[in-house]
Amino acid sequence: MKAITVIASPRKEGNCRTIVDAITEGIKENNGENTIYYVDDMNIKPCQACMGCRNPDKPSKCIIEDDFRKIMDDLEKKDALIFAAPNYFGEINAQGHIFMDRFYSMTKSTPNQFKKDKKAVVIFTYGARDGYYDEYINRRAQLFESIGLTLDSVISAGGGKPNSGNGEDILKKAKTIGYNL
Ligand SMILES: Cc1cc2nc3c(=O)[nH]c(=O)nc-3n(C[C@H](O)[C@H](O)[C@H](O)COP(=O)(O)O)c2cc1C
Repeated sequence: MKAITVIASPRKEGNCRTIVDAITEGIKENNGENTIYYVDDMNIKPCQACMGCRNPDKPSKCIIEDDFRKIMDDLEKKDALIFAAPNYFGEINAQGHIFMDRFYSMTKSTPNQFKKDKKAVVIFTYGARDGYYDEYINRRAQLFESIGLTLDSVISAGGGKPNSGNGEDILKKAKTIGYNL
């Protein structure tokens, strides 16, 4: 099993990364591999609403040739996408928003959807109490289905977990998810 991970947090040792590391541990224990990308380190332009992705004669995972395309071309060769983002002021952070807005180029109104043979794991971290943003998180997670991925699991990690606070339950869950991917 080969996965790619997109981390929207700019923090290289933050909560998102700690959870992703636990998933990677599970993946590796089951002889798989995981490649990590940080949105912050990449050249990913915001969606330009150019509708270039709606052209049935020119199928393409977004016509903007930048690192979003590079990530999606890599995912085409892999089995799963893991996505981790922090919550800023009640919503996904800016880097996460920019990345996810580009999903518009791969919804069912385009010829570019994945074929349901790839899984998605979606991780959201936040400081508020556990569960506080679950409605929002589940709505966001559905967007991974809209591009043709099969939503495998959602991790909602509140209370500053896992780096501050007791995060053992989250890390155990993350490792199991990684193992079973
Ligand atoms: C600019 C900013 C805004 C934030 N706003 C919220 C918020 O509205 N609600 C919340 O629960 N946590 C908020 N947080 C806390 C982060 O979501 C939390 O620390 C998260 O786990 C960070 O993930 P990371 O360590 O992977 O970067 C905010 C953090 C920052 C830096």
